[in-house]
Amino acid sequence: MPLRGGSRSLRVLAAFAPLLWLVRLQTSPAFSPLLARRSVVKYDLSKQVPAEVTAQALEAAIMAPNHFLSEPWRFYSCGPETRGKLCGLNEEKRKAAEGVPEMLVATVASEHPLSEKLGLEDHAAVACAVQNFMLSLASNGVGSKWMTGALGAAPEDVLAAVGAGSGEKLMGVIWYGFPAKPLSEDNKAPPRKRGLAGVLTSLP
Ligand SMILES: Cc1cc2nc3c(=O)[nH]c(=O)nc-3n(C[C@H](O)[C@H](O)[C@H](O)COP(=O)(O)O)c2cc1C
Repeated sequence: MPLRGGSRSLRVLAAFAPLLWLVRLQTSPAFSPLLARRSVVKYDLSKQVPAEVTAQALEAAIMAPNHFLSEPWRFYSCGPETRGKLCGLNEEKRKAAEGVPEMLVATVASEHPLSEKLGLEDHAAVACAVQNFMLSLASNGVGSKWMTGALGAAPEDVLAAVGAGSGEKLMGVIWYGFPAKPLSEDNKAPPRKRGLAGVLTSLP
């Protein structure tokens, strides 16, 4: 899809943007977790995630932008007993879930219906928090995967398993742990069909 509007130089920039983005990220250590974080399927169960790494990721999570400082995120850090409950929610998915070292359940606690603007903003803030969490983990070599539908469990059952407060909505179960294959900046992201040029409108 062609880039609409904008100056010629911006159109040229957009055409080369994927390349520039990669060059910039690879030469800037601060950005490396962005490249290294890819959804991880296979984990190394013999390696424990240090508690400090999880704590640091949670601190990163709550640094996410949130309108009116509503802090709409709630997190449930799951110990073995709770992970056992989550693994038991769908027998067909049990094997995959049991191959995951750690799980964090993230929920949205909003005072507003999620169908309304402020509820949507709270939902967005929690999504940002989850991304911060995963990027912080990636900066420490820990892989993760944001799970919703593929859990094969109803959100209400997940919420009940962690004892979530009434009105909380499930944002996802974050699977995490050291990956069977170490994270690397060279891990390929799933290709973007639209690319940047297909989603960016440059305005004068
Ligand atoms: C809200 C949300 C829900 C997701 N739920 C699932 C899921 O249920 N199962 C799954 O395999 N991946 C799930 N993912 C992960 C995406 O499939 C993954 O991010 C996407 O394929 C891009 O790969 P990457 O994470 O390596 O960039 C979810 C991601 C988001 C943002």
